[in-house]
Amino acid sequence: MILEIRKYGDPVLETRCGKVTNFGTPELEKLVGDMFETMYANKGVGLAAPQVGLLHQLTVIDTSAGEDPEAKLVLINPEIVSLEGQQIGEEGCLSIPGFREDVRRAMSAKVKAFDVKGEAFEITGEELLARALQHEIDHLHGILFLKHLSPLKRDLIRRKISKLVKAGEW
Ligand code: NI
Repeated sequence: MILEIRKYGDPVLETRCGKVTNFGTPELEKLVGDMFETMYANKGVGLAAPQVGLLHQLTVIDTSAGEDPEAKLVLINPEIVSLEGQQIGEEGCLSIPGFREDVRRAMSAKVKAFDVKGEAFEITGEELLARALQHEIDHLHGILFLKHLSPLKRDLIRRKISKLVKAGEW
């Protein structure tokens, strides 16, 4: 089932998520499946639970955009263990459609998380995966990529979005 994606301005996107405590339930499996379906339908490489209105520490990532089944990643209650290096690259967000900006991120990110069954695991991502891990984990803390832009750029985007909202186009 394709879920509705919440857009910038919805307070759910700027609220901290709570930890998932019920693992391995049919509801959690269904939600993860729906989140992948929603992400692929919108041509995203990552989707976090608050983007579909749920304040759970849960995110799905697939930097292959559906090309490689092994690239499918589910992260529950994820925590960044370490960050290394730097990269600057264009970033977008399904909750802020139409806006892409250069964002500085760590080049490598080591993350620990739990899978759907509640098994702990660690993953180290480089480049695009590192970027996706940092972007999606930010979402779970109520942080959008706009926060990483200069105040000037951020205000410009906010003003453009306000206009779109007034015009009924957001
Ligand atoms: Ni996003």
